[in-house]
Amino acid sequence: MTKIKVDQKYSPYQMPSVIIGTIVDEKPNFMLCTWVSRVNRNPPTWMASINRKHYTMRGVRENNVFSMNFPPTELVRVADYIGTNSGRDVDKSTLFSIFYGETKAPMIKECIFNMELTVTEIIELQDHFIVLGEAATSYIDEENMTDNKPDMKLMNPIIYTGAEKRPTYWMLGEKLGDAFQIGKELDRQEV
Ligand SMILES: Cc1cc2nc3c(=O)[nH]c(=O)nc-3n(C[C@H](O)[C@H](O)[C@H](O)COP(=O)(O)O)c2cc1C
Repeated sequence: MTKIKVDQKYSPYQMPSVIIGTIVDEKPNFMLCTWVSRVNRNPPTWMASINRKHYTMRGVRENNVFSMNFPPTELVRVADYIGTNSGRDVDKSTLFSIFYGETKAPMIKECIFNMELTVTEIIELQDHFIVLGEAATSYIDEENMTDNKPDMKLMNPIIYTGAEKRPTYWMLGEKLGDAFQIGKELDRQEV
C-alpha cells in the first residue's frame, strides 16, 4: 500500500450530528455541531467545539448551560438548515417542539437523545472554543429502548463525514461485532 501526503486539515472519520441548544436574548437558538465528544466518564463530561463567532456562544456565555440533542435521520434537512443559518439572521426557535429539564437549556422533543449540560470550562483556541459541560440530566424515547438499554438501530442517528469530495450525512450500517468481546477470540488462537 502506497502512502500519499494529503491536506493536514482532513479528518476522515465519522462524527455525530448534534444540535446544540441555548437561550440567547431570552429566546431558544439551535446550531448543528459535529465536533462533539464525551471526554470524561465520571462525572460524565462532554465537549463541543464551537466557532467563537457563532451566536450560540453568546447563549453559552450568558447562561452557562447548553443542551445536546441527537437528531434521527428524518430530521436531516432541518439539521442542515440550522447548520447553515445563524440565529443572528433567522429565528430558529420555532423549528422544534421544545422541553426543559432542570436548567434553562432548551431541548428538542423530536430528537432521539437529549442532554442538558452545565458549563465547567471553556478552552479558547484560535478560531474555536472547546466548551466542556457536565451532563445534568439526559433523556431518551422509551420506544427506542431494548432490554432497558438504548438501541442504536431504533434510534437511527445521523452520522457525518467531512473529508470526502463533499461533506456527507450517513446512517448506521451493519453491526461488526460486540466491542470489548470480539478481540477475545484472538486469545484462543495462538497469535
Ligand atoms: C454538517 C455541519 C457541521 C457543523 N459542525 C460545526 C461544529 O462542529 N462547530 C461549529 O462551531 N459549527 C459547526 N457548524 C456550523 C454551525 O452549525 C453554523 O455556523 C450555524 O449557523 C451557527 O449557528 P448560530 O450562529 O445560530 O450559533 C456545522 C455546520 C454543518 C452544516
